[in-house]
Amino acid sequence: MTASWHEQIFFNQAVKRLESLVAHPPMFVATTIPDDEQSQADEQYHDGEADRYDSYSQTPRIAVAERWILSWISRTIPNGVIVDLGCGTGRIARQLADTNRRVIAIDRSQQMLAQAGAALPADTTALLRCDARMVPVADGSVDAVVCSGVLHHIPDWPAAIQEMSRILRPGGTMIVREPNAEYPEALFAPVERAIATMARIASRHQRPAQVGELDQFQPSPVEQPIVLAEVSKQATQYGLRPTWEGSAKFFASLGIPDAVPLQRLYFEVANLVDRAIMNSIGLRRGSLAIGVYTKSI
Ligand SMILES: C[S@@+](CC[C@H](N)C(=O)[O-])C[C@H]1O[C@@H](n2cnc3c(N)ncnc32)[C@H](O)[C@@H]1O
Repeated sequence: MTASWHEQIFFNQAVKRLESLVAHPPMFVATTIPDDEQSQADEQYHDGEADRYDSYSQTPRIAVAERWILSWISRTIPNGVIVDLGCGTGRIARQLADTNRRVIAIDRSQQMLAQAGAALPADTTALLRCDARMVPVADGSVDAVVCSGVLHHIPDWPAAIQEMSRILRPGGTMIVREPNAEYPEALFAPVERAIATMARIASRHQRPAQVGELDQFQPSPVEQPIVLAEVSKQATQYGLRPTWEGSAKFFASLGIPDAVPLQRLYFEVANLVDRAIMNSIGLRRGSLAIGVYTKSI
């Protein structure tokens, strides 16, 4: 019997297949997963967040900008075999898993993978539970890797960049997106405080907060600032050439509570302004840093 597409690129001794009774994508688990304290704490946090994680990205503050950022990522990534490293609930993997692409959705968190599995097509995707710093996938075997919102949870994140470079084929693409440590949060803080105060006063007449509203969001115990220039420096060191560096979401990052009237309209307009700046003079101080890299041939 010939091996399936995903088994051909896995280090087969380093993964075990988990049998599932439901028709989800095949699921594998690495035989070795680093067990440092910080990664375990972060894993536990993400296990606990998995069932409501998607509700955060449905709030207008996130959803409006994400709509086009995800489609931008999808247009930027080549066809072929793609790894979504730190896939969470599979938001990006879902976008990518069409007929021209096969996606390996990877995460440390079992609960995140369970959510992803329920939403991904069974024939063009596979799930793999492993650590981003130790991926049981053969050298040079994938066409692209996308790593979204993951590095800031990994204390020694350059090890994940090295691993992404290792599994990429020459000429392959890596896309990294992270909260941008260079976003000038302090600039917006007084405006946000004023809006929050007004919203609190008005909320006596409003509905109670819904699950998924940003003020209910608790950060992970492992979060560290990421500067894109440092990601690019590490990427270059591991044989990846930057082809696009910038950011998204400047005005669209203003923390307007969901209860504020016309909140969605604000984000629609702010998003258009951010995109226009990004596509003309470039946007470096948006809250979301994005880097696109090509593996040297
Ligand atoms: C903020 S979520 C981002 C999820 C998804 N990429 C997205 O953009 O919606 C971060 C994800 O990275 C995973 N993660 C954190 N550290 C990891 C590691 N060392 N190896 C693999 N996954 C990790 C978490 O379990 C979580 O699902």
